[in-house]
Amino acid sequence: MKKKIMAIVLSLILMSALLPSLHVLATDKSLEKIKSKNSLVVGTSADFPPYEFHANLDGKDEIVGMDISIAKKIAKDLGVELKVRDIGFESLLPALEVGKVDIIISGMSASNERKESVDFSEVYYIGGQSLVVRPSDNKIYASKEDLYEKKIGVQTGSIQESLAKEQMAESSIMSLSKMTDLILALKTNKIEAIIMEKPSAMAYVANDDGLATFDGGFELEEDEQGAAVAVKKGSENLVASINQSIAIIKENNLTKDYLKEAGELLKESRGQQSQEGSKSKTMVNYWSYFAKGTGYTILISVLSVFFGTILGVILSLMRMSDNKFISIPATAYVEFVRGTPLLIQVMFIYFAVGYLINIPALASGIIAVSLNSGAYICEIIRSGLNSVSKGQTEAARSLGMSKKTAMRYIIFPQGLKNIWPALGNEFITVIKESSIVSIIGVGDLIFQTKIVTSLSYRGIAPLAVTMVIYFILTFSLTKCLNHYERKMDYD
Ligand code: ARG
Repeated sequence: MKKKIMAIVLSLILMSALLPSLHVLATDKSLEKIKSKNSLVVGTSADFPPYEFHANLDGKDEIVGMDISIAKKIAKDLGVELKVRDIGFESLLPALEVGKVDIIISGMSASNERKESVDFSEVYYIGGQSLVVRPSDNKIYASKEDLYEKKIGVQTGSIQESLAKEQMAESSIMSLSKMTDLILALKTNKIEAIIMEKPSAMAYVANDDGLATFDGGFELEEDEQGAAVAVKKGSENLVASINQSIAIIKENNLTKDYLKEAGELLKESRGQQSQEGSKSKTMVNYWSYFAKGTGYTILISVLSVFFGTILGVILSLMRMSDNKFISIPATAYVEFVRGTPLLIQVMFIYFAVGYLINIPALASGIIAVSLNSGAYICEIIRSGLNSVSKGQTEAARSLGMSKKTAMRYIIFPQGLKNIWPALGNEFITVIKESSIVSIIGVGDLIFQTKIVTSLSYRGIAPLAVTMVIYFILTFSLTKCLNHYERKMDYD
């Protein structure tokens, strides 16, 4: 009897010890998921040569670099197709957590802090930290101590941001989302230095006479030193598979080849631009980027105003209803949407709502801008309809028209005339404001401008071109709206 009890107790202990691992085996579908959809979606912030960057190869834009070669190797070993998503560095971890991307490869250091929210593979590369300055300052500054109390640039969400805060506490820190914007800030004297991973500093300097670099002399915690692949927490099977690929990469010293290739592509991309001499630096070379961006911006604006108007009409009718159960929700919606920033709404739709249903970035952007615009359009319509004098309704009603008919045939047409200019204004606002969707990686005009900035190593010219394009868009819209406004006046 005793033996039996002992056996039962023992097997219970054994089972409870094994259960957690069984649990993992049972729930860790990370690898199957990727294999069954036959694609590996990699998130990266392609502003970081030689790790990842945009290159203009044979007139085509491509994201390349050491990390992309590693991603290719991992995808190949898994036997699936590779898809690369270019996202702002600070949005990578949220994108991974909500499943917008399967893994992150972005020169990302496997820091203990990040390990609280994601898991990491083995480290595949150790870079080191450098400071990038203007060549004329190269003699003035030689160590991080020389930059005491100066303005320092870092990428938002990077370990360099915490390094600056901890080891250069007296300096003022400027955090920007894109490395390319930091380079521009440095060149235009907004900051004195940028803290950057050494290989990236070298790549930027090698391709730009306007930059110089030296060792920063930073002390890094061990966990912050190496770049690794990030995966969603609890993806043991996926990590194991990635680690196998990394082991092969290390065994054959492939990172060296990848880096060499990245260097060549960087040169080739730059070389193609300089082949045509000084003309290379003109923005005409990048017309395809601007054209693509303009296309997206128009698409987003037109669709958002279209859906926004439908929503606005419905909301305004709801708001004007005598039934409180109908009017209050509409009022609450309008107040809430107007009271929160569009930036947060875009991110909320993409990340939070996208957690439940996977909406692609472009659709998320259009939905968010439409929902936002709907609230404003509602107010425009409401005030337009309210501006039609009460006597009109009374006259219509006394002729025997129902409330609905009076609204449709008498009030609405007159109101439309009043709201037309304000509606046009809203359209123009949407064209400009929709640029916020670039934060979630939609390839609109602002997004493309950033790519051109990184490809051309020029900061101001792309901004000027973009400004002109926006102006052409909004100005022709104004002209077009004025035309219809005059037409309505005749009626
Ligand atoms: N190693 C740094 C970090 O993990 C910077 C990485 C920046 N990567 C990039 N693709 N911009 O925080």
